[in-house]
Amino acid sequence: MKPLARPANPCFSSGPCAKRPGWSLEALHDACLGRSHRSKAGKAKLKEVIDRTRAILGVPADYRIGIVPGSDTGAVELALWSLLGARGVDCLAWESFGEGWITDAVKQLKLKDVRTLRADYGALPDLTQVDPARDVVFTWNGTTSGVRVPNGDWIKDDREGLAICDATSAAYAMDLAWKKLDVVTWSWQKVLGGEAAHGMLVLSPRAAARAASYVPPWPLPKLFRLNSKGKFNEAIFVGETINTPSMLCVEDAIDGLKWAERVGGLKGLMARSEANLAAIAQWVERTPWIDFLARDPRTRSCTSVCLAITDEWFRRLDETAQRAAVKQLETLLDVEGVAHDIAGHRDAPPGLRIWAGATVERADVEALLPWLDWAYGEIRRVAAA
Ligand SMILES: Cc1ncc(COP(=O)(O)O)c(C=O)c1O
Repeated sequence: MKPLARPANPCFSSGPCAKRPGWSLEALHDACLGRSHRSKAGKAKLKEVIDRTRAILGVPADYRIGIVPGSDTGAVELALWSLLGARGVDCLAWESFGEGWITDAVKQLKLKDVRTLRADYGALPDLTQVDPARDVVFTWNGTTSGVRVPNGDWIKDDREGLAICDATSAAYAMDLAWKKLDVVTWSWQKVLGGEAAHGMLVLSPRAAARAASYVPPWPLPKLFRLNSKGKFNEAIFVGETINTPSMLCVEDAIDGLKWAERVGGLKGLMARSEANLAAIAQWVERTPWIDFLARDPRTRSCTSVCLAITDEWFRRLDETAQRAAVKQLETLLDVEGVAHDIAGHRDAPPGLRIWAGATVERADVEALLPWLDWAYGEIRRVAAA
């Protein structure tokens, strides 16, 4: 039997993620359109994003916050290209985004002194192996495996290297340990339901000092340059972007930040996301065909919740058939208007991924869960026929 209730919002994609509850294009009516982003009005909007970001996330006063091109990927690569190579680096990967940053370090930058610490989907590498004398590059929340670091305790306060953290699916939903981090990046398209294309780049004083003094041996495109005329370009960190931003996206980011304030700031956002995870966890607990991909409950993501189908029938299929079954389930729910885009990432083991970030309502998650049981029953029934 099909469940009676449907989620009010079927958007469960892990990026771009659901817009905030109540969002409409009307939210953008005050956008600074048709004006220069370097006009007083334009710069004020960009600065507003920076100031609201600092306030909501509790970014320390001496850390710089900039808006850069290229979404989260742009922000991470700007950091890697500008900062790496000054000392050895430990690169951590437990899913495809961390793997991507290893490719940058090893194959593109061809760094001589890289250590890679890897784990399979569902696990974390041994964080105690990270050497504080070296830089470290890692992803706070592995979006494609649904595994997050439980905290920043494994990063030493007196480290010599820089801790470079891709926090795109963690920022606004998890407690980032700022004093343990030197470079933090994310994009607007995740937990606040903003638009892609722009990245946020946060630098600790030590990261800014590295950027100002270190000249990497490779050429830097203009889009990645933190220095201008031989000097550190402080202007980037008050809203003078390297190139032209979309003021429509900027307005949307401001809208997301104002909403974040209305729901109780970071604490409120984290509580919303954790409540969504809890709803899913209760269902997983009582549902025999599914389990979390993350093995250790302390590492389960509260944003990109990745689930493995553990049912005997499914496990006996080969990978191609498993992916086809997941696709079938996803399509059933898509056609019903119940859930969009909930298949796991193409690089992850076949399974489901449900975005549970702060813009998703717990009531919608709760309404979705019986539909998952229904859809799984349907694909089993069709397979048996
Ligand atoms: C952990 C992580 N890093 C990087 C990215 C890439 O982000 P973008 O496409 O905004 O550049 C994503 C996107 O899902 C992500 O989840």
